[in-house]
Amino acid sequence: MTNSIECIAPSNIALVKYWGKKGIQIPQNPSLSFTLSESRTTTRMTWEEGHYQTEFLFEGNQSHSFEKKIIDYRELWEKNYPDLKKYSLKIESSNSFPHSAGIASSASSMASLSLCFSELLKSEGVLDLEEKKFFQNASDFSRLGSGSACRSVYGGVVTWGQWREGTSDEYASEIPELTEKWNDWGDAILLVSSSEKPVSSRQGHALMETHPYAEARFKHAKSRMNELYNVMLNEDKMRFCDIVETEALELHGLMMNSNPSFILIKPESLGIIEKVRAFRKETMIPACFTLDAGPNIHLLYPLEKKKEVVDFIKSELTPLLEDGKWIDDKIGTGPVINNA
Ligand code: DP6
Repeated sequence: MTNSIECIAPSNIALVKYWGKKGIQIPQNPSLSFTLSESRTTTRMTWEEGHYQTEFLFEGNQSHSFEKKIIDYRELWEKNYPDLKKYSLKIESSNSFPHSAGIASSASSMASLSLCFSELLKSEGVLDLEEKKFFQNASDFSRLGSGSACRSVYGGVVTWGQWREGTSDEYASEIPELTEKWNDWGDAILLVSSSEKPVSSRQGHALMETHPYAEARFKHAKSRMNELYNVMLNEDKMRFCDIVETEALELHGLMMNSNPSFILIKPESLGIIEKVRAFRKETMIPACFTLDAGPNIHLLYPLEKKKEVVDFIKSELTPLLEDGKWIDDKIGTGPVINNA
């Protein structure tokens, strides 16, 4: 009998960044993120008992480079759940955003894949966990695929890494008291460059092992978590903007101070940064920027100010964007699982 499940997982944007790890994606410091809504990966997994096979299609096409990663990831699941070896698997994935947009897709793709494996094992009676543990387990396995993916298993404001009761280095969890207050924020993803990055996140994390400022950074990131948490709880939006921007620049500062040093931002990224700060100062609208390990800018803002922010993007930022492109995203409610 053939069975099938579809898992849709969104991407996420970190406000306090995971940068530096031990072992298999055990973070050196806790991180905090907004789960997005529109930027997501849909994965359909179809399985049948019989001969062992793993077929992988990305956007309808065979992809040998991805296939190897998927096969390794399946083997990782099989070490914990050997019953998985009974099945022939067909895995079909697609992203809602163009592959060439320069947006990291590992978070949404590994989270959607982990949820599919979890659902398969659940429906075959192998994985028998109550809901909370089920998602913790899915988050833990997402982490093994890509660190930031473990946060994409939850919606709203999410944290990963040990820093307060209920948090763990192995899996992420939602912070409901913050989601409640921050669920009406937008994220305009401003596309500066879609070229391949000269240094991958994986390489960047590795450079933190010998980084001269590593210890200071890890310590500082922990205290920044506490500070940001309190600022968000008190809804101090202007202070929120200051902290989020400083953190993003600190990430890129760490890259510039690595040995070898590398730079991922582009002149256009800096141009946008300056304009965002001027816009905030002039209008008093709490709009701020953050960046992942790349040149694109995430412009975060309260959705009630969407008109003003979109007018600002159109009039001032479009010339700095690749082909004038940006993605209109916002905080979302997390993954969706469709049976059948
Ligand atoms: C800058 O999760 O992509 O986006 O664990 O090696 O797959 P791996 O790295 P990845 O690193 C993300 C780095 C970041 C910050 C963040 O998302 O917290």
